[in-house]
Amino acid sequence: MSNKNPLAVVILAAGKGTRMKSDKPKVMHELLGLPMINWLLNSVEQLNPDRILTVIGQGMDDLASAVSPHETVTQVKQDGTGSALKIAMGALQDFNGDILVLLGDTPLISVETMQGLIDARRQRPDTGISVLGMCIDNPYGYGRLLIDSDGTLRDIREEKDASDEEKQVNIVNTGAFCLDAAQVNDWLSDLVNINASGEYYITDLPEIAARKGVKTSVAISANPKEVQGCNTRINLSELEQYAQEIMREEFINAGVVIQDPSSVYFYHDTKIKTGTLIEPNVYFGGGVEVGANVHIKAFCHFEGAKIGANTVIGPFARLRNGSDIGQEVRIGNFVEIKKSEIGRGSKISHLAYVGDCIMGKDVNFSCGAITVNYDGFDKHQTIIKDGAMVGSNVNLVAPVEIGEGAFIAAGSTITTDIPSDALSVERSKAKTIKGWAANFRKSKQSS
Ligand code: UD1
Ligand code: CA
Repeated sequence: MSNKNPLAVVILAAGKGTRMKSDKPKVMHELLGLPMINWLLNSVEQLNPDRILTVIGQGMDDLASAVSPHETVTQVKQDGTGSALKIAMGALQDFNGDILVLLGDTPLISVETMQGLIDARRQRPDTGISVLGMCIDNPYGYGRLLIDSDGTLRDIREEKDASDEEKQVNIVNTGAFCLDAAQVNDWLSDLVNINASGEYYITDLPEIAARKGVKTSVAISANPKEVQGCNTRINLSELEQYAQEIMREEFINAGVVIQDPSSVYFYHDTKIKTGTLIEPNVYFGGGVEVGANVHIKAFCHFEGAKIGANTVIGPFARLRNGSDIGQEVRIGNFVEIKKSEIGRGSKISHLAYVGDCIMGKDVNFSCGAITVNYDGFDKHQTIIKDGAMVGSNVNLVAPVEIGEGAFIAAGSTITTDIPSDALSVERSKAKTIKGWAANFRKSKQSS
């Protein structure tokens, strides 16, 4: 995207977010595991602005690091969005061009919408401000855009200051503005805090500019979901839902088949290649990468796992941190894997635990087999070489190595290394006493 005029983006994020009932700054609350502020920055960076400046509150060190390497300025007294902009302008003294102001608590605004707002100001030379509005059914809490019959914006009225009649207006301020840098300081110097909150409102700027003969144009967002603000925890979960919708749509458009999109939860960093099929009710935690043409059956849970192409997983499988599953692997129901490499073509089809293991190719790890990786103090490694057959209900007590092609008989508890192509059986001799059960029943029935 090209911006001929220099562009500075100012993000207002100094507010404490009292309505969130949280110790964290509001914009540090996460959507799909990524702080809101980083969702916004990821989009802003795509505009290639000359400056990106975030206004933060005092002591918000985590926020400053989340924003880094971009600049921050500190608003000591949080007395309104207008004052926050004034502080940002202090750091933009020599800047000439467009200033795009965004609210940190409106993080899912799209790059196209931001560009549209910039274009709306540039289209006409007498337009000093463009403001992004939206039409919503329930305008409660938002500033109302008071638009005259000829289409010019007269003023923006905050909820607390609105008359009953003004409250009926359902075209509202999303909080995003594009301003002519050359004039902003002049308008800001006229800002007063005579209103219900006693704050300096950025939303007074259009009216101040109008008094000086400068027009404000209104751009209306076609998609209110992308510009919904976050004031409460309920809003946070609404934004989370929308962020999920964005991810699902991107995957579907990229050729991933999702049978019931609303039941699949993605993380912000989930990566999935084309042709993969995801059945309903699957959870992706952080750091999951799925190859092409994988089949993920219903009710799986993944965190920090890599899955190779053409593998089939689930239903009801759990892959934990450090699982590196190769290609054409079969992981079946009620299998848990942690910090393990599973080689190409291996099968772990039912009821198994594999932890701290390096498993080669074409291994069969049968039903009920487990790696005993923990002695109550330390974790130990299991190595299973190519082509080994680990029978049902086997305990591999780590550290232990099973050689290539070795065969471990069902029920064995293995505590020593097993050489290649050997059979290992650890099982006490079965005893069969003929007629015992019939005698036992008879004695019980007669007593
Ligand atoms: C604001 C707008 C309202 C708009 C709504 C859209 C004003 C006066 N009102 O209301 O017209 O409809 O957003 O969501 O602008 N902030 C600071 N410093 C401050 C105060 C706020 O940096 O002193 C930041 C906050 O961190 C937040 C953003 O500005 O990210 C908006 O502040 P908030 O208090 O949530 O404003 P709203 O009441 O939602
Ligand atoms: Ca808000």
